[in-house]
Parts: sequence; structure tokens; C-alpha cells
Amino acid sequence: MIDKKISKIIKSRRTTYPRDFNGANIKNEVIEEILDNANQAPSHRMTQPWFFKIFTKERKNDLANAIIKLNSNSSDSFKKKLFENFEKTSHIIVICLKRHEGIVPEWEEIAATSMSVQNIWLSIVNSKIGGYWSTPKYLNNLNQYLKLKKNERCLGFFYLGLVDSFKVRNISRTNVREKTSWK
Ligand SMILES: Cc1cc2nc3c(=O)[nH]c(=O)nc-3n(C[C@H](O)[C@H](O)[C@H](O)COP(=O)(O)O)c2cc1C
Repeated sequence: MIDKKISKIIKSRRTTYPRDFNGANIKNEVIEEILDNANQAPSHRMTQPWFFKIFTKERKNDLANAIIKLNSNSSDSFKKKLFENFEKTSHIIVICLKRHEGIVPEWEEIAATSMSVQNIWLSIVNSKIGGYWSTPKYLNNLNQYLKLKKNERCLGFFYLGLVDSFKVRNISRTNVREKTSWK
């Protein structure tokens, strides 16, 4: 038998979009605790490919300005939404991956980094913190701003913010039996 509490936690994990954050700040110590959980992810040959760059307070504005500079053709509504989202967000965790070429294939390192993100997401279940993984098209253009080396890449932004009350989104999964065949 598996522990029902674990199933409940997994099933309670949800995306919360920045528009639903209240703009208050999460303590850095809490972020550190969350990242320590992220760091427990498994990885083939223990390459531990994930690393994180954290933007909070005024550093979020630097990041927003860099994004807008790189997307100079972007519409006013894109800019407005970006600043509004960043304002409401407490911490933006830039999810990064360091490749270990020749040791393991890339997909395994993307998988391992994704598992570290899942740990971030699961860490905030039953708290007042909401989280959202965003993978916008402009990510690859940010390498220089993020000071990423040739063997490093960005896999998205994880937005974390405090929430007064969680909105229920009407999403469901197809039944796992449809995706399973017992051989
Ligand atoms: C790798 C990955 C990338 C994602 N990128 C985006 C994104 O760019 N924009 C977005 O609105 N949601 C994004 N999401 C969030 C999904 O839309 C969300 O997880 C999905 O709707 C299921 O909702 P749930 O997380 O509440 O279960 C991403 C999720 C994952 C796992």
C-alpha cells in the first residue's frame, strides 16, 4: 500500500498564475527550504544538472527590462502584463540546466531538472504560496543576460507568490487506464 497522504499531496499540486498572487513577499528562508527540496531530485550518474537564479524585489525589474529590451517589437499589452505579473510575484526562480555532455544524454538532464521543479511545486502544497512554471519563447535570447555558459540553458521561470485564496481551475486528466496497458 502507498501512503494516502502522498497521493493527496500529489493530487493537490496546482498551477497558480501570478494574476492571483497578492503581491506580498515570501521570506528568503522559505525559498531556501523549497530549493533544498528541489535539490533532492534524482539524476543519472548524479550529474545534478539543475541550478537556479533567483530574482526578487528590485532585481525583478532588471529582468523585466531585459526581457522587454530583447523583445523590442513587443506590444504595450505584453509589457503591461509582464510588469504586472512580476510586481505580483514574490520570487522568480530561473530554472537552469548544466549539460554533462558525453556522460548522459540531454533528455535525462532535462528530466532530472524537471523532477527538481516538481519538488518545488510539491513543496508549496498546503501553504499560502502559489507557483507557476512559465516557458516563454524568448527564453533562449536571455542566455547572455543570465550569464549562462555554452553548456548551460534556461528551462523557464518558476513564479512564486503569496495567495489569499486559491481559485479552482476546471482542468482534469484523462483516465490513466487509457494510458496504461498491462502486458
Ligand atoms: C514544462 C512546463 C512548461 C509550462 N509552461 C507554461 C507556459 O509557458 N504557460 C502556461 O500558461 N502554463 C505553462 N505550464 C503550466 C501548465 O499549463 C499547467 O501545469 C497545466 O495547465 C496543468 O495545470 P496544473 O499544474 O494546475 O495541474 C507549464 C507546465 C510545464 C510542466
